[in-house]
Amino acid sequence: MYPGSFDPLTNGHLDIIQRASKVFDMVIVGVLENGNKKPLFTATERLEMIKEVTKDLENVKAEAFSGLLVDFAGQHNASVILKGLRTVADFEYEFQMALLNKALNPNYETMFMMTDSKYSYISSSMVKEVARLKGSLDGLIPYSIIHKIKEKY
Ligand code: COA
Repeated sequence: MYPGSFDPLTNGHLDIIQRASKVFDMVIVGVLENGNKKPLFTATERLEMIKEVTKDLENVKAEAFSGLLVDFAGQHNASVILKGLRTVADFEYEFQMALLNKALNPNYETMFMMTDSKYSYISSSMVKEVARLKGSLDGLIPYSIIHKIKEKY
């Protein structure tokens, strides 16, 4: 289970999904529907973008969820919650979330995959900022979805 807001999916996220698809039998990308953040894209739009860029990965599927992550993982019999770690700054927050999820349901293990160094500076907020200011999105998000974010601005 690879959960996140994916508002929008970046090349960093895609790199994790591609590598995870080689390690795990099945990867479910869980798109948080109604988190604390006010998303630019609806959950349906975010799902469509993920499905578009992962269409060639046979063992990857994407689904939206609301409510607790551990409950969503349970519905899919997922045993591992996968998160990407970019910098040391991510660690403290991710560590806390992993412990909280463990406390909510001890059946799940959180595993971390190091983000490829060439994507370590990318975040969805930065991508939106660059798009808003009409900068180039080449290399930041998958080429096939660049037009979707341009349309929003
Ligand atoms: N490459 C690029 N960017 C990455 C990345 C990677 N490998 N990994 C994380 N990021 C970035 C995202 O782009 C995002 O950037 P932004 O803040 O600029 O938007 C940021 O890291 C945070 O990612 P996000 O997808 O918002 O996830 P999160 O780590 O905040 O957690 C959930 C999202 C869905 C996992 C979490 O909110 C959740 O589990 N919610 C369900 C409710 C629940 O169960 N709560 C209790 C447990 S906390």
